[in-house]
Parts: sequence; structure tokens; C-alpha cells
Amino acid sequence: MKSYDLLYIDGQWVSPAEGGSFETIDPSNECVITRVAAATAQDIDLAVKAARRAFDDGPWPQMTGAERAIVLRRIAAGIRERQQTLAELEVRDNGKPLPEALWDIGDTAGCFDFYADLAEELDGHREQPIALADERFSSIARKEPMGVAGAIIPWNFPMLMAAWKVAPALAAGCCMVLKPSELTPLTALELADIAHQAGLPAGVLNVVTGLGSEAGAPLSEHPGIDKLAFTGSVPTGTKIMQSAARDIKNISLELGGKSPFIIFNDSDIEAAVEWIMFGIFWNQGEVCSATSRVLVQRDLYEPLLKRLVEQTRSLSIGNGLKEGVLLGPLVSRGQYDKVLEAIAKGQEEGATLLYGGTRPADCEKGYFLTPAIFADVPEESWIWKEEIFGPVVCVRPFDDEAEALRSANDSRFGLAAAVMSRDLQRAERVARGLRAGIVWVNCSQPTFTEAPWGGYKQSGIGRELGEWGLNNYLETKQITRYDSQQPWGWYIK
Ligand code: NAI
Ligand code: MG
Repeated sequence: MKSYDLLYIDGQWVSPAEGGSFETIDPSNECVITRVAAATAQDIDLAVKAARRAFDDGPWPQMTGAERAIVLRRIAAGIRERQQTLAELEVRDNGKPLPEALWDIGDTAGCFDFYADLAEELDGHREQPIALADERFSSIARKEPMGVAGAIIPWNFPMLMAAWKVAPALAAGCCMVLKPSELTPLTALELADIAHQAGLPAGVLNVVTGLGSEAGAPLSEHPGIDKLAFTGSVPTGTKIMQSAARDIKNISLELGGKSPFIIFNDSDIEAAVEWIMFGIFWNQGEVCSATSRVLVQRDLYEPLLKRLVEQTRSLSIGNGLKEGVLLGPLVSRGQYDKVLEAIAKGQEEGATLLYGGTRPADCEKGYFLTPAIFADVPEESWIWKEEIFGPVVCVRPFDDEAEALRSANDSRFGLAAAVMSRDLQRAERVARGLRAGIVWVNCSQPTFTEAPWGGYKQSGIGRELGEWGLNNYLETKQITRYDSQQPWGWYIK
């Protein structure tokens, strides 16, 4: 095993100032994979200062978008070259099945290519003329990199979540300090290595592994950060917003969800079952946009539940590296206990556990769980309202469109939602009525780098991906010029 016990700061691999480290675990066997450097405030300070120097004095922000695109494409190529190794590393660190990890790593490379294209395009419209009513003046609006960005990311899509922030930040001309989750730090360190080999100038990307309280908090509090991008839980998002408030840092937050999926009577039952499963079992349900609340129209309710249980029964659970496995272990002991607790709570609250929610008979070690299906879930129950972040689906019947929409929107979250019907007019109408940042029609979860991603309500602030992702890292400046030869004539006539 290659060693992962150094931090990547200012283009160099360095030991953490206090010499600490932590273990990262393979959740399929609960064994330690390796020890990883634990950064503390001193290391964060060095990383932020390196990023600041790279931004103030280095070539990166001064380069054209086309020049930056060359490096971004080299990073994409480096990721693709190592796709298999990176995917296997992701499986060991996170637990997800290999086909999903391969998909993630492919998407990660695609994200760097996409923002390489946008960096190039930005050269053509970095400055736009502004039409002014007063013709004595002319004005332009100009986009400039925001400065030094901090990124704090979660463990569910480790390398992909890094790319969603690193690629647009670098494309914009920003310099960045990235802190991956302590549960899945390995592929972020690989990304640093790939970026280094791709010729990214020193200090432009710094990767510091560490715990949330020891490394994440000092990063979000550091006065040298202009922009903070976070994906993770609502409680941590709240803390980050509070610490960002002191220096009025620009923030973007992508937080949790309890996303609804409305299924009308006229839907094809097999398609409905497939998309329900993809919506909540993919990545073990550890997906911020997972459609964890399913509303099924009355006539379809019983037959659909029957079919859902049949299909779920045949899902192959095991080590993500094993051929044919479609559900791996949950990421950690903590997450496993949290999900088991939620399942117990659901039973106490009077929901019917139709299937699953227990340790599979043939898995002694590892954080494995049979996917859980709850029916007749009370609307006021905790499991209907709160994010579980595991393979646990809650299902309820509904009678008409108005009831479905009311129930779907009755949430403090608003990240995603889905609707299924053969009546496209109805599906489109419901899609427009859903209070969520991402709405899927006749599917759930497919995510595209080109389209905006982010939530309404407590699911977050701002949008990632697409041109919105790039704008996250750009300031807008106006330059206004007095063109008239006439004196201004206010004080001096
Ligand atoms: P978390 O939100 O605490 O962790 C996400 C990132 O924030 C990690 O890199 C962590 O080190 C960092 N962090 C933690 N405390 C921090 C602080 N005070 N200041 C700055 N950074 C800090 O999520 P965690 O603990 O991994 O999982 C807790 C729950 O959050 C999960 O059980 C799940 O329900 C939910 N979650 C939601 C995600 C989403 O994408 N919506 C992603 C991950 C977790
Ligand atoms: Mg791990």
C-alpha cells in the first residue's frame, strides 16, 4: 500500500505540523486501510497562505482560460488513465460497488473536461458592454476569479465531490484548499498527485486531510479565505455559515434532503420499481438527493409495494469489489448505527417494515444492511421527515394530485424531487409545482455536469455544476468610464 500520510501544500508533500494521523477504514471488513495525516490549524494556515501567494503572485489567475484549460484537460486525462485503480481505492475507502465507483471516476474526469471547455469559453465573454441610459458614460461588466477558495466535502462521492468544487474553482482562476472527509480521504490525495503531474503551479491546489473539528473548522474560520464551498450535513452547514459570517465570506452550501418521489396510477410498474430502487439504494442510499419519500397513488400502492419487495429481495449485497454486487456496506460504524437507530424508530412510530433493515445472514463483519422498505409511514413521523442517509425507503399512498404535491412539498428540505406518470402534461405540471432545486420526470437521480445542482429551503445556498458552478468562483466587476469632454460641473462651474 502506497502511503497517504502527508499533506499536499504549496506543491509539496509535507508532514503535518503536530505529526498526528488517523485511520481510514474499509467498511466491508472493518479493517484499517492505512493511516492518514491529521492536519490542524497550523497546517491549514500554511495551506491558505500558499494558496494566497499563488493567487496574488502566481501565474494561475493571470493565465487565459485557454491556458488553464490545457492543465485541466491533463488532470482529466490523468484521472482516466488511473480510472480502475482510483475506483478500487474508492470502493475500499467508501464501500460502494465497483461499477458505481467506475461511474463516479468517469464523471470526475468528465467534470474537469467540462470546466476546461468553460474556462476557454470564458475568454470570449469575460467582459461584456453594459448599455447605460446616460451616454456620457460607457461601462463594462467583467468576470474575475474570486480569490482563495476553501472546499469541505463529504464521504459519499469522495472524488466526484472534490471535482465539483476543484474543477470550476481552477477554471475560474481561483486557488484552493480542499479538505476531504476523514472517512474517505484517499482519492483526494490521489487528485493532488494527478494535478501535480499535470503541471498545476504550486499552491493553486492544496489538499489537507484531517478531522472536521481540527482541520475543517480552522479552514472555515480562516480570514484568508474569500470563498467557502461546503457539501455535507445541515448541522455542520450551520456551523460553517456562522464562522463564515464573521468575515462575510462568500459561501455555497449543498446540504441534506428528504426528497419526494410522486408516482401516479398510470405509471409502468416495473419502471416505477426500478427508479424507486435507483433513487434510494444506489450508493447504499448515502446520497443527498436520494428520493427517500415515495408517494404512490392509491390503485397502484399494493401491487407496487409487492413488486418492490420482490425486486429488493434479489439485490446482491456484499463487498463492492465482488462481481455482481449492487449494494455495499455503509461507510462507517457511526453511519451504520445511525441508520439502524432510524429503522428502530420507524417501527416504534407505527410504520410497517415490509422488508429488510437487518444485518444480512452471511455478513459477519462490515457495515452491511439489507435495504429497508417502510410502508404506511405516518406523515408526522421522524422517519418521514428526517434524512436517514441509508438504504431506507418510506412509502405512503395518496389519492389525488393536489394531495401528492402538498405532501411532497411539506418538508424543510428542498434539494430534489421526482414525479412519474405517462401523462406528460401532468408530470410537467407537477414538476413545476415541486419546491426543489432538482426535479426528475420519469426517473430519479441521473446527474449531469451541464445542469445546475443545489437546493431550496434548508437544502442549501447556491448552485454547483454547469455555468452556475463556474459563477460560484467568479466576482463581477463593473468598469465605468466618463467619456464626455464636458466638465462635470457640479462643484466647479
Ligand atoms: P458532516 O457534514 O459533519 O461532514 C462533512 C464534512 O464537513 C467533512 O469533511 C467533515 O470533516 C467536515 N466537518 C465536520 N465538522 C466540521 C466543522 N465544525 N467545521 C468545518 N468542517 C467540518 O457529515 P458527517 O459527520 O460525515 O455525517 C453526518 C451526517 O450528515 C450523515 O449521517 C448524513 O446523514 C449527513 N450527510 C449528508 C451529506 C449530504 O451530501 N447531504 C453528506 C454527508 C453526510
Ligand atoms: Mg474509509
